[in-house]
Amino acid sequence: MSGHINVSDVTLKFAGKTAPLTVLDQVSLTLSHGEFVVLLGPSGCGKSTILNLVAGFVPPDSGTISCNDRPVSGPGPSRGMVFQQPTLFPWLTVLDNVTFGPRMAGVPRPEAARMAREWLERVGLAGFEQHFPWQLSGGMKQRVALARAWLPNPDILLMDEPFGALDAQTRIMMQELLRDAWLSTGTTVLFVTHDVEEALFLADRILIMSARPGKIVDEVVLPFGQSRDIETLAQSPGYADIKQRILHLVRTEAKKYINPI
Ligand SMILES: Nc1ncnc2c1ncn2[C@@H]1O[C@H](COP(=O)(O)OP(=O)(O)OP(=O)(O)O)[C@@H](O)[C@H]1O
Ligand SMILES: [Mg+2]
Repeated sequence: MSGHINVSDVTLKFAGKTAPLTVLDQVSLTLSHGEFVVLLGPSGCGKSTILNLVAGFVPPDSGTISCNDRPVSGPGPSRGMVFQQPTLFPWLTVLDNVTFGPRMAGVPRPEAARMAREWLERVGLAGFEQHFPWQLSGGMKQRVALARAWLPNPDILLMDEPFGALDAQTRIMMQELLRDAWLSTGTTVLFVTHDVEEALFLADRILIMSARPGKIVDEVVLPFGQSRDIETLAQSPGYADIKQRILHLVRTEAKKYINPI
């Protein structure tokens, strides 16, 4: 089945000033095809590192990572990534930014452009194809990044706080856009955020990580179903209790940095 992720007993150390720093300690997680899973945890606990491992940017010291039942040995087009900053090429137009990957992979320019126009329309950027990144707002740039990541039709999308730098209103619009795109594509999404409300709106399942060395300490399966309205979700049965439980867990872990035990 496509879009399956398996991280099993992964440990990763980085060189520290005196001794190696254990960033991830026997982390295991599994995502099924089409699932939307959010990773929540304090700053520095290793969330981005997990995405980088699944993307194939870094290898683990021990443990295994596989996607679609194949070991990950490096980056590949079946796994798209969206970073906190949009990372667009400043010298390319919106259309050329979005089509860059497929063109490099040999997709003819007209075909790539046709697919890109579909995605640009979907993210509300029809008519901006010939704009350059410096002519776009932060939210628009992140829409371009979303279209670019989704264009090659990846099995898996890895998203590292993609809306972290946006204002509250733009952020909500982007969350709605992302959920709609996810519902219509069925792509497996592993999404990192600090924001509990964002996690509650987007996720099927939330994984909560401990302070460094990062481990998955809890898992919350959300009972809110597929169709969610961002304005009324907070009135859903169970929402307040789940939010409070998650906030408590995340705050408990975050405090360990201030009062290490
Ligand atoms: N390439 C690297 N070399 C050395 N140390 C690294 C490297 N990448 C990450 N680290 C360290 O690993 C730890 C986890 O980093 P990571 O970026 O995964 O955290 P995070 O949970 O994403 O934090 P944030 O929420 O602030 O983005 C940090 O202590 C960081 O300094
Ligand atoms: Mg990070």
